Order: sequence, then C-alpha cells, then structure tokens
Amino acid sequence: MNLPQTQTQTEFTLASSPVFDVERIRSDFPILQLKIEDNPLVYLDSAASSQMPQLVIDSLVRYQTMQHANIHRAVHYLSETATNEYEAARGKLKRFINAPEEREVIFTSGTTDAINLVMHGYGRQFIKAGDEIILTTLEHHANIVPWQMLAEETGAKIRVAPVNDAGEILIEDYEKLFNSRTRFVGLIHVSNALGTINPVKQMIAYAHEHGVPVLVDGAQAVPHLAVDVQDLDCDFYVFSGHKLCGPTGIGVLYGKAALLEKMQPFKGGGDMILSVTFEKTIYNTIPHKFEAGTPAIAAAIGLGVAIDYLLAIGMDEIAAHEHELLVYATEQITSMPGVNIIGSAANKAAVISFTIDGVHPHDIGTLLNEEGIAVRTGQHCAQPVMDRFSVSATSRASFAFYNTLGEVDALVAGIRTLQKVFT
Ligand code: ALA
Repeated sequence: MNLPQTQTQTEFTLASSPVFDVERIRSDFPILQLKIEDNPLVYLDSAASSQMPQLVIDSLVRYQTMQHANIHRAVHYLSETATNEYEAARGKLKRFINAPEEREVIFTSGTTDAINLVMHGYGRQFIKAGDEIILTTLEHHANIVPWQMLAEETGAKIRVAPVNDAGEILIEDYEKLFNSRTRFVGLIHVSNALGTINPVKQMIAYAHEHGVPVLVDGAQAVPHLAVDVQDLDCDFYVFSGHKLCGPTGIGVLYGKAALLEKMQPFKGGGDMILSVTFEKTIYNTIPHKFEAGTPAIAAAIGLGVAIDYLLAIGMDEIAAHEHELLVYATEQITSMPGVNIIGSAANKAAVISFTIDGVHPHDIGTLLNEEGIAVRTGQHCAQPVMDRFSVSATSRASFAFYNTLGEVDALVAGIRTLQKVFT
C-alpha cells in the first residue's frame, strides 16, 4: 500500500464567489437538504449546535481512514501525521482568535469543560473564603454552577450584575459590584438565551482597573463575530467546536500564558507530565499540562477545518448576513399579534427568543417540528434569564449564516398555523 503524504494543511478551496451566496453555502451542508416528513428542514437551532459542512465531515473520514494513531507518543508515520494535524489545528485556533501564542490554546471537550478547568485550576488556588466572584444574569448554567461549587467549597460569594428589560447588562450596577474582595469575573460574550452582545471589552477593562481577571464565555460569540482576544484583553476565553460547524467533544480554553503557568492542572494522567516517580511528578509545560490523556484528536482536526471554512467565507460576511436575518425576523415576528420577543438589546446576535400567548413553549416546538422547523424550547440552560423575564421557558429560533430569509418566512407561517390550532 502506498502511504499518503503527510498533510498538515487542509487541502481545499472554498468555491466561494466574491459575494455572499447563501444557496451555494447551503449546498456544502448535506443535512440541510433533509426533509422532515414532507417538509424541507428549516434548522433554526444553531445556538444549540450548528451543522457541519461536507469538508469537515470529509476531514473526519480522512483522518479515521488514513491518519489515525495516538499523538505525542511515537515516532512512527501515523503518530507523526496525527500529531502534526492536531498541532496544526491548534495553530489555526490561535490565529482564529488572535491569541499571542499557540501554547495559550488548550483543547478541552467544550466550553463547560474549559470553565471547569479554570474553576479547578485557577479558582481553587486563588479564591478563598470571603472573596467575591462577579457573574451576570445572562450567564449560561456552565458559567454559574462551577463557580457556585467553588463558592460552596471555599466560602466565597457570588455577586450578579443585573440586566434591563431589553436584556442588556446594567453597566453601572456591574461596576458597583467591585470592591476590595472581588477576585474573579465571569462574563458571557453573547447570551445564548436572548442574543444580547455584551460590551465585554469595556467590562474587562473595568475589572482590570481593579486588578481582577476575567473569563469570557464565547460559545455563542465565535460562530458569529470576529473575536480578537488580544483586543479584548480577556484573561480566559472559552468556546465549543460544535457551535462553530465543527464536531462535538472539542472546545478551547484560551488563557494568558502567565496565568496558565501559575495554575494547577485540572486532570492528571499521561501527556501532562514531564516525569513521574512515586515520590514526585513534574508537570509538562502549557498547553500539555492541561491536556491529560488521549484527546479528541479527530475532533480537533475537524474543528481546524471548520475554521478554515468559516474564514474562507469571512466572519464579517457571516455577521452581516446573520444581521440581515435578525432584522427581518424581528420585523416579521414583532408584527404578529400574540407573539412576544424576549430580549430586544440594541446589540444583538441572530437569536429570537419568543413566547406565544396561550401556547406552552413545548407545544410551539412540537407543532413547528411538524412543519419541519427546528427551534429549541425550554430554559436554554439559563434559568436566571427566564426568572428575570418571569417566563417559565421560551421558544428560541437561532440563526446561522446558512439560513435564509425564506426560512424566516417559514417560521412566521409555522407560528401562524399553530396559533390557529390554539384559537
Ligand atoms: N448552550 C446551548 C444552547 O444554548 C446548548 O442551546
């Protein structure tokens, strides 16, 4: 058998036209051609998980077929190939978020894993009884529960920045939360439940004036906006691959090297060590110190390809198309009697959370599904947001760059049909 050449570069060219061509983009996504019963799939649940283009699927197949072996452990051809591909993916992620150094990019299993890593590695070491952690009402449970666990363990206290009726953080109230006991801030960049884009750069700068490090949960930001961690000056930035047209089981923790160096590892095991005796273990350097065991090699490579794909389209073009979808969907849905949009921030990603008078959100999800329309219903892992707006749950249409204005029309028609069922 002839062995293939080692490929450290993703080999594809996006057959993109200079103008954003949504129909051509859609043809890259096999799943978008599906029919649900007799209806074309209208996939409006990308905030939960986005879909994968064929290129990413192909990269997973290529890896499993021609490149798989464990990484960082052997000198044979396949191990070297897999290692090169995996580390090349790290380089792509570094460039994607403009991290200063590759060693500041740590692969995790996702956003939740990355936040837990910071809680264990940083929080347990540097946050003590009486210290305070600032969060916001908009946080996803993933950026609440780990800090609550830490607070229970240490006696630290959590303080929460409130939001106004539009779902925007009240910045003056946020600033008033700081005092000499403040030790850490956790901020969601884009709210998964409402779509609010928070002014994280300004909020980080304020925290830094008080000498407080900031973790930004970017899970809902990186798929929609160009993110530059050096410009934000965040201390930690976390996100997931599966919301970025990549595979599940992979995510990223970016951390400033000086902080990562000071942190304890979260998980112990192979690859995160330089030497082990029963008397003493010396940990590996970053990023390996935080990547114990065999990682999700294929998923990391697939995520690298997903990023190539998104960058070939252009993050600014993606943001512009999604903004057009948001404006159109907001206009349409706002004009519908009995339909209420929750979250009307001036700066918003393409997420529309809504309720319909007299209809339970789960019934909305079920009836829209009968029309082939996929929305998420429930609390969106953000129960404090639901409580703030006094709703038990919402239905959420979340758009990606592969959605069309015609799909907004389908959603509006679906809502009309279900309203008739309930009158
Ligand atoms: N965090 C994901 C969502 O918002 C699962 O749906």
